[in-house]
Amino acid sequence: QAASIPADRVPDMEKRKLMNLLLLGAIGLPTAGMLLPYTYFFVPPGSGGGSGGTVAKDALGNDIVVTEWLKTHGPGDRTLSQGLKGDPTYLVVENDRTLATYGINAVCTHLGCVVPWNKAENKFMCPCHGSQYNIQGKVVRGPAPLSLALAHADIDDGKVVFVPWVETDFRTGEAPWWS
Ligand code: FES
Repeated sequence: QAASIPADRVPDMEKRKLMNLLLLGAIGLPTAGMLLPYTYFFVPPGSGGGSGGTVAKDALGNDIVVTEWLKTHGPGDRTLSQGLKGDPTYLVVENDRTLATYGINAVCTHLGCVVPWNKAENKFMCPCHGSQYNIQGKVVRGPAPLSLALAHADIDDGKVVFVPWVETDFRTGEAPWWS
């Protein structure tokens, strides 16, 4: 009879383990479900390895793949893409058909119009009040007080990734006014 006691308890133990597992599952699943949005919140998609970057998007909202871009954008090309914080930002193709390592923020430093690239004049010319910027976005005529902002145009996994430009503005030798 003494042998029947442990035999009775075995199913009990199994049941308890099962209950524990169910309990863990009940707690675990919602927890994982709640953590996921946090993970996405803190690690935005296309962050390029946590560098604080943003994948550049074309006019249709697709990620810009460098090789594809260079097939349709020749030397000297300056075409708008969606940049940091959604700002319209020019991607620059250098004369050797490579992508420039910087993008030019198209928002006029006067009153914020988007400045078109004028290929014939080889300048960015603001239609609002006539400000002009050279091929690298350095202001050459007012009323705009400052040059167009820069962003790093890095390449990550074949895609263009904009990263905030916090270093010296290579066009003016000054600290960047925008960061
Ligand atoms: Fe560009 Fe005024 S907004 S010149």
